[in-house]
Amino acid sequence: ITPVTVAALAAMKSRAEPIACLTAYDFGFAAACDQSGVDLLLVGDSLGMVVQGHETTLPVSVDDVVYHTQCVARGAQRALVVADMPFMSHTDVELGLLNAGKLMKAGGAQMVKLEGGAEQAALVERLTENGIPVCAHLGLKPQRVHKLGGYRVQGRAEQEARDMEADAKALEQAGADLLILECVPAELAKHLAQSLRMPVVGIGAGRGCDGQILVLHDVLGVTRHPPRFAEDFGSSAGGVMAAIRAYVTAVKQATFPGKEHEFKA
Ligand code: KIV
Ligand code: NA
Repeated sequence: ITPVTVAALAAMKSRAEPIACLTAYDFGFAAACDQSGVDLLLVGDSLGMVVQGHETTLPVSVDDVVYHTQCVARGAQRALVVADMPFMSHTDVELGLLNAGKLMKAGGAQMVKLEGGAEQAALVERLTENGIPVCAHLGLKPQRVHKLGGYRVQGRAEQEARDMEADAKALEQAGADLLILECVPAELAKHLAQSLRMPVVGIGAGRGCDGQILVLHDVLGVTRHPPRFAEDFGSSAGGVMAAIRAYVTAVKQATFPGKEHEFKA
């Protein structure tokens, strides 16, 4: 087994091989995803919703993510393990550095992900200096749900789209290795993927991204109200492993996402 590295993700972008990503929260499903060819496993703070049963991701603690990252890391032999920085865990650079260190040292993460734009560039730079790979997260930032007043498509207005591009460039300049774009019009996501060096992984961001990610529970059809951009591969595939394989194949062959999963500007 050749483990997926940051360099391997960049190589996948340069040869236009779609990067297939999923969230995972425990050993069993991490191993199932790993053996099904998933390239990257994100221990998302979505665990607050799909594992803990909260309404939002806000209650999730750094210790929660450390615990779930430990479980996932034991199941991942090939996939790159990414841990999410939860709400209020990086309100300044020093706190962010400390908490990212916990996710890497105690959790066993190989990369951390954080929501935010250019205002996070100083932290991304410090993490990079300390050898911590960073995945940025733009578009819909669920930790801002109470400021946004709900979960909806981001970057439809021209100024918003321009700001998103400036944020992405600042984060890349600061050393980010990867970018997740959530709920962004397909055209904008495609433009960003084409103009950035770092791979862009989309969720509800259409077919022009360098890779895709979904919440595992949505893929397996165990979410009561799945978002429109998700697809339940579980009900048609026949079993968990078959469902995950079907998702990976669909991403690699670029048959998922389809037009019906995209948002227009
Ligand atoms: O927490 C999470 O699962 C995420 C993905 C949806 C990108 O941030
Ligand atoms: Na998240």
